Amino acid sequence: MEQIAVVGTGYVGLVTGVALSDIGHSVTCVDIDEQKVELMQSGVSPIYEPGLSELMTKNIKAGRLSFTTKHQQAFAGADAIYIAVGTPQKEDGMADLRFIEAVADHIAEHLTHYAVVVTKSTVPVGTNDYIKSYIEKHTDVPFDVVSNPEFLREGSAVHDTFHGDRIVIGADSVIAGDLIEEINKPFGIPVFRTDIRSAEMIKYASNAFLATKISFVNEIANLCEKLNANVDDVARGMGQDKRIGDKFLNAGIGYGGSCFPKDTSALVQIAGNVEHEFTLLKAVIEVNYKQQRLLVEKAREHFGSLRGKTIAMLGLAFKPNTDDMREAASIILAQELILAGARVVAYDPIAMENARNVLPAAVDYADSAFAAIQGADTAFVVTEWDEICALTPGDFKANLKEPVVFDGRNCFNIETMKEAGLNYYSVGRPVVKTEKELV
Ligand code: UDX
Repeated sequence: MEQIAVVGTGYVGLVTGVALSDIGHSVTCVDIDEQKVELMQSGVSPIYEPGLSELMTKNIKAGRLSFTTKHQQAFAGADAIYIAVGTPQKEDGMADLRFIEAVADHIAEHLTHYAVVVTKSTVPVGTNDYIKSYIEKHTDVPFDVVSNPEFLREGSAVHDTFHGDRIVIGADSVIAGDLIEEINKPFGIPVFRTDIRSAEMIKYASNAFLATKISFVNEIANLCEKLNANVDDVARGMGQDKRIGDKFLNAGIGYGGSCFPKDTSALVQIAGNVEHEFTLLKAVIEVNYKQQRLLVEKAREHFGSLRGKTIAMLGLAFKPNTDDMREAASIILAQELILAGARVVAYDPIAMENARNVLPAAVDYADSAFAAIQGADTAFVVTEWDEICALTPGDFKANLKEPVVFDGRNCFNIETMKEAGLNYYSVGRPVVKTEKELV
């Protein structure tokens, strides 16, 4: 059992800290936000993440997990100090390292014994070397730096931490790498050891590759629409080739969230800094830009003008099972619709509170998916929550003023939408038009 400090209690930090305590380590999480720390001390997770609060309560009770605002207190006796603060995107696309530097200052100030500094935050290649020299300038206490990138997905963060495909440990010191491998042993997940810079690159390359897969299938979907093929079947047929794999081939209105948009832009910048033009990744970003606006295009084509139309926006979070609105397609869609003179009635099972802070002020909100479609002219399906996919074609037909649904996540069956007499636009699948429309 090791003593561990985790700095930063966002998605990555909190889930990492809680999981490390659950496998037996003594963990102190530090955050500068006093209110948040108080909340966490009482076993309440400040983020919506299935299973997290339960695990927090269990490990606080067992005396293995605590929270503080004081770095000195957390670092005292720590064998490893995990950095899990945010690296937001600067205007030029690069990662902003302000918060990382602030943690490095605290480490330099309070470190009194050898410890391993572990970087969980996604940082540009070379940052761990920078952190090392930054801390070294301010302290004589020996320490090592290890890159240990995080691959968890929001909404299944707890599950992913215990069932990940691999744990990447990038270390230039064998002792430090061994310690972090030992700490992670109880997870029983395969460990991949490499040097620090390669570990940093693995994180960016993985996210960029997954984003590429999504933009690729979305381009195929756009082509399928023009050629009268069905992307669902195309993706299924492709995915059966083990070299391609069947994951991350769901066509739709693109990727959002806190990682893919930020990390793809950062990698383009990182490449640019060493005079390498990452043409492929630039195209991936461009495809996603267009894809996030797709439903408005389709609606414009169908209706001509959107002025005066009431649109039920079903799902607001960037994906289901999270309240995260970062880079969600709903933001862009709502902006474009309001600009086009439409009225938006929005609904999300969990993300409404966060949505109110980022969607245009003119957006109205409904209490349920069903309430949102009542009296609306048409519906946009933006996030594939169960509650939203559980709406039936009959619900749409009976409640929408115009029998038209624009589905950005391919939630519904084409045949049943057709049988219900709806016009149905999805992504990369044949358009369903009522006989009236076909005339
Ligand atoms: C992602 C990575 O999966 C994770 O490994 C990394 O650490 C952080 O970024 P996350 O952002 O939580 O995790 O969400 P993920 O489930 O990967 O989805 C990202 C976005 O891609 C969502 O907007 C989702 O709707 C979209 N997506 C995903 C698709 O459009 N099609 C797919 O086939 C898969």
